[in-house]
Amino acid sequence: MAAPATGRLSGKSALITGGASGIGLSIAQAFADEGARVFLFDRDLAAAEAAAERLPNAVAFEGDVTSRGDLARAYDGVIAAHGALDIVLVNAGVSQNQPTLEMSDADWQRVMDINCTGAFLTAQEAGRRMVAQGRGVILMMASLYGVLAAPERLGYCVSKAGVVMMAKALAVEWAAHGVRVNALAPGYVETPFLSDLIARGRLDPARLKARTPIGRLISPQEVARGAVFLAEDASDAITGHVLGIDGGWSAYGYI
Ligand SMILES: NC(=O)c1ccc[n+]([C@@H]2O[C@H](COP(=O)([O-])OP(=O)(O)OC[C@H]3O[C@@H](n4cnc5c(N)ncnc54)[C@H](O)[C@@H]3O)[C@@H](O)[C@H]2O)c1
Repeated sequence: MAAPATGRLSGKSALITGGASGIGLSIAQAFADEGARVFLFDRDLAAAEAAAERLPNAVAFEGDVTSRGDLARAYDGVIAAHGALDIVLVNAGVSQNQPTLEMSDADWQRVMDINCTGAFLTAQEAGRRMVAQGRGVILMMASLYGVLAAPERLGYCVSKAGVVMMAKALAVEWAAHGVRVNALAPGYVETPFLSDLIARGRLDPARLKARTPIGRLISPQEVARGAVFLAEDASDAITGHVLGIDGGWSAYGYI
């Protein structure tokens, strides 16, 4: 059962890239439940608008995280509507799952463009506005596979390792300007992203559960609770941290 909301993000604006689906949407819901005004940024405008209709006072923006112009327009829209850009969740991402020897240049480029360059553009455009404000919170969606390696996921692992280091590097660069940057590193989360990999026979859910010390997949709501904590003022002293939400997966070293 979801914990009752207590207004931990009251009065704040929060823009979420990839906010139309999966983990991003779940975090948008949790931020809205805690009193934030939510702005969903997604390349799928129809899905973002449908999601925004279900959240109080939410706004949908069509945009691609590989476009600096799309991001700048959306951030300026948030500031025009709300007065400040308080929280940005750098979340849009794609999976990549194939033997490295079969990867084309285009396969590599696609995952790096969206997961890594997209994260850079999203964070840099947010940072420009937050440093000028003298405050702000950036949350970067990394992954268990930004910290540990998996076979046949080279581009994904490298892109998410880049996101982990981006969060740390930006945290130390912008701390003096009042801007905090942290990363979330979820394990296997029950989302359309995961269902797609399971449907294509790329993942076996029974094996995933058996490998996870808590014995089950992670729910998007559990990731959202971690995001709320890192977004709220109660975590003001936490920056440059990578919060694993993986049911113990990354701690497990037995057979
Ligand atoms: N599902 C998991 O198990 C899991 C685990 C760890 C990390 N993650 C990460 O969490 C993030 C979200 O994953 P999800 O499972 O919710 O995925 P999802 O596919 O359900 O949602 C991703 C959203 O991002 C949007 N998007 C994709 N590319 C975009 C682009 N270039 N510009 C703008 N929007 C774009 C999609 O339209 C979609 O709405 C990703 O960064 C993913 O790598 C997922």
